[in-house]
Amino acid sequence: MENREHIQPNLEERLRPELWALLQIMARLTQERGWQLYLVGGVVRDLLLATNRGRLSSPDLDLVVDGADRGNDDKSGVELATALHELYPTAQLKIHGKFQTAALEWDKDPILGSLSIDIATARTESYAYPAANPDVISSSIQADLYRRDFTVNALTIRLTQPQAGELFDFFGGLVDLRSKQLRVLHPDSFIDDPTRIYRGMRFAVRLGFTIESQTQLYIRSAVASGIYERTLATYPKVPALQTRLKAELKYILQTDYWLPILERLDELDALKCLHPNLKLDSQLRQRLQSIDNLIQSTNLPRLSPWLIRLEILLTNLTLVDRITTIEQLQLPPESLTRLSELDRSHQTLITALSVEISTGQIVRLLQPYDPILLLSIAIIAESKISSIVQQYLTTWIHIKPPIDGRDLKSLGYKPGKQYQQILANVLIATLDGIITDRDSAIEFVKELRGEG
Ligand code: CTP
Repeated sequence: MENREHIQPNLEERLRPELWALLQIMARLTQERGWQLYLVGGVVRDLLLATNRGRLSSPDLDLVVDGADRGNDDKSGVELATALHELYPTAQLKIHGKFQTAALEWDKDPILGSLSIDIATARTESYAYPAANPDVISSSIQADLYRRDFTVNALTIRLTQPQAGELFDFFGGLVDLRSKQLRVLHPDSFIDDPTRIYRGMRFAVRLGFTIESQTQLYIRSAVASGIYERTLATYPKVPALQTRLKAELKYILQTDYWLPILERLDELDALKCLHPNLKLDSQLRQRLQSIDNLIQSTNLPRLSPWLIRLEILLTNLTLVDRITTIEQLQLPPESLTRLSELDRSHQTLITALSVEISTGQIVRLLQPYDPILLLSIAIIAESKISSIVQQYLTTWIHIKPPIDGRDLKSLGYKPGKQYQQILANVLIATLDGIITDRDSAIEFVKELRGEG
């Protein structure tokens, strides 16, 4: 199925000149050694998809070296990376010998900026493309690409002669790209690597693609085959799968379009890869819909929106299921604490806030809680409790007393623990309108000491 269109995407025009020059150098180094060099992965896809003729915004590059049947010990990719490193000694060279891959990374380089280039050796060992065309130009690159996830991600541009600059489409990626479809390369792809289900939904939403119908069936059957149970069985030795799944989930939850991706995952039952009881019902959808506005309006420092979104996603699970999922995904201990305490703290606040209390008293009540836990409570609580907690998080939490420790010192207080207590009382009186400015705060403190 290799393409016969002889498409020559104009890399020279589409890449930054410095990147193009770098690729030319790599092609020369590869050619001198009698090997072939291919540009692969997302950059090829994005290059073909881009509707404008401008340059691609700083892509990281994935390259594959085809060392022409040098066998299983082929380290062409590592050798090429090492040769390139000699020309660019300021880059950091990372070699992953086991996988015959290397990476060169530039950090704020004056010419290249921040750039990462992955160089792999074409791998042929485990799959043979079932309908391999006998007159393919290089079987190694074809087999390497066949191990990948989707046809649109298995397009490649050869950078060495002959046919340098030409697009190779072994698996119909170009047709899929034009009809905006994500099609998996082989039936076992999602069983081999379930994170591809998550990647697929991310691409589908980002690129506005549909999932081809057979591919949908493969996803459903991979999920139904019990991916979750299998990873659970290997617990407590945390499986690599969960680590990759967490990385992909984090990537998704950091995008602007995270919620549509979760919705697509749910449609294919794929949230079950996180926990078999995880389902986006209308309540959970509502919770997720309100989280971003709340995060924005609270303006709290040091929040990780992706982690908060994930914690909210887990709120519909039972306590036991939440804990299992958090441990599986190796989330930070604070997440475990928050999601373990959520229901209890929610109940406590329902009771405490069911009677009328002053703003100052509310702040005294809420101050000891982790603000992120309160954010979750604001999301799950009914409207009265929710609006009180939201007011605390957006406004009251930021209010400071009009005097500080220096004022207490000049009033003759010896520095110590009592400062905190006095200032807490000053703050409450401020919130309740008893203190209105610095002078009334000083009066208040004097009165506390019996001088008033
Ligand atoms: N790949 C894969 N299976 C995975 C991860 C990656 O087959 N689980 C392959 C795909 O061919 C992909 C390439 O490795 O195109 C590079 O991976 P990555 O850089 O993660 O993806 P990109 O397609 O470049 O996506 P993005 O634009 O999001 O960086």
